[in-house]
Parts: sequence; C-alpha cells; structure tokens
Amino acid sequence: MEKKIIIAIDGHSSCGKSTMAKQLAKQIGYVYVDTGAMYRAVTLYAMRNGMFPDEGIREGELEKAVKNGDIQISFKFNPNTGRPDTYLNNEKVEDEIRQMAVSNRVSRIAALPFVRALLTEQQQAMGKEKGIVMDGRDIGTAVFPQAELKIFVTASAKVRAQRRYDELMNKAKSEEEKAKLNFEEILKNVEERDYLDSHRESSPLRQAEDAVVLDNSEMTIEEQNVWLMGKFQEKLNK
Ligand code: DC
Repeated sequence: MEKKIIIAIDGHSSCGKSTMAKQLAKQIGYVYVDTGAMYRAVTLYAMRNGMFPDEGIREGELEKAVKNGDIQISFKFNPNTGRPDTYLNNEKVEDEIRQMAVSNRVSRIAALPFVRALLTEQQQAMGKEKGIVMDGRDIGTAVFPQAELKIFVTASAKVRAQRRYDELMNKAKSEEEKAKLNFEEILKNVEERDYLDSHRESSPLRQAEDAVVLDNSEMTIEEQNVWLMGKFQEKLNK
C-alpha cells in the first residue's frame, strides 16, 4: 500500500500557513485541515451567544455548551474555491470567522483548556488514517507529536500584517469596508496574537524539537512550494 504520512504545519498567525498547507495537500492528494478555523468557529459561537460581556468571557456557559455537544464544527470541500469551507452547526461560516471581530477574540478562546481538549480530540480523529496536512499552532507538539513531517513557519510581523491587510482588501465588498481597514490596527492584532499564542499556559505556540523551520519573509509562494515538496519527498523516501 502507498505510504501515507502526517504533515504538521505550525507557526505564527498570518504567515501563509493555510495557503501553503492547502496547496501541498492538493498536490499530494492529502486531506487538508485548518485548525485555526475550528478555534474561530468556537469563538463565533461564543460571540453569537453573548458570552463576551465587556472584557471577560462567560467560561462556565461555554464549557457547558462544549460538554452538551452544542458546538459542532465540520468542513465541506468547496469546488469553486478548491478549499474546505467551515461549518458551525451545519451553517457555513467561512467568511464570518475571518472577520476582525473574531480575530480580536479568538486567542482568548484558544487559551481555554476545555476548548483545546475538545478540538484536539476531533483533530486526532481526523488524522487517524494519516494522509493529512494539518495547520495550526500545536499540531506538531500536542495534536500529532508523532507526525512524520513537522514544519514551523515564520515571517516578520510587518510582512505578515501586510499580507493580512492585502487579503482583507481583496475581500472587502465596498469602498466603505476598504476605508475601515487600518494597517496599524492589523499589525497590533498580529503582535498581540503572537504574544497570547506563545504565552498561554495550555499548549502554547512553540517549535517542536524535530520541526524544520521555514522563514518565508522573502519567499514567493512558488519557491515555498518547491521547498515543501522537497521535504515531503525526503520523508517518503526514508
Ligand atoms: O491560524 P488562525 O489565525 O486562523 O488561528 C486563529 C487563532 O486560533 C490563533 O489566535 C491561534 C489559535 N489556534 C490555536 O491556538 N491552536 C491551533 N491549533 C490553531 C489556532
């Protein structure tokens, strides 16, 4: 039988992890899972249910919802975009979870141990058959410490903020939406998330000892893809 492996792609926010993971998965015929989308979907659920009063979070209520199974997250492949869309309780929320209101709150949700426990379990189930490319923050350290190929991606905060700014500009549906985008605010969000993601107690973002580092600040997507395919072939031939 054809050898299949698990590929874990971790790293800072907005360094193009999902673009590279998605492209790699397509090229090698693997399943792609964006775990950030899962944390974003839980955040959206909490927002919609009034669980963010003032600056706090109604942790008890959220934990109850998690335990009751009230938050079901799934993915469905979208042939138009060539990538999976995220669903929250059977409603497509792919666009909504990418908005700044969610980005500004998701790190706090991702720091909650009961949220991490739930999503980690679901992610491990998705990788049971191998043949998967999963991107996130703790895939190589907590979800699949046994992954055959681990990549730790990074780029400077300014480069990442610029990429996110360009992405949001491209997605903006009106001039008004475009005018609202502020580079400094996005940079601040990137820096704050770096800090929160790396300093939380529960599975913080860190490089696995056996991960290979990819700094893509100065790389094109094409160069990056060639680099990734090289690493993948190396592991397959082992
Ligand atoms: O990759 P992203 O920006 O969509 O991730 C959203 C947030 O979710 C980010 O602040 C970190 C968190 N996250 C996490 O804690 N663990 C993961 N495996 C994936 C994302």
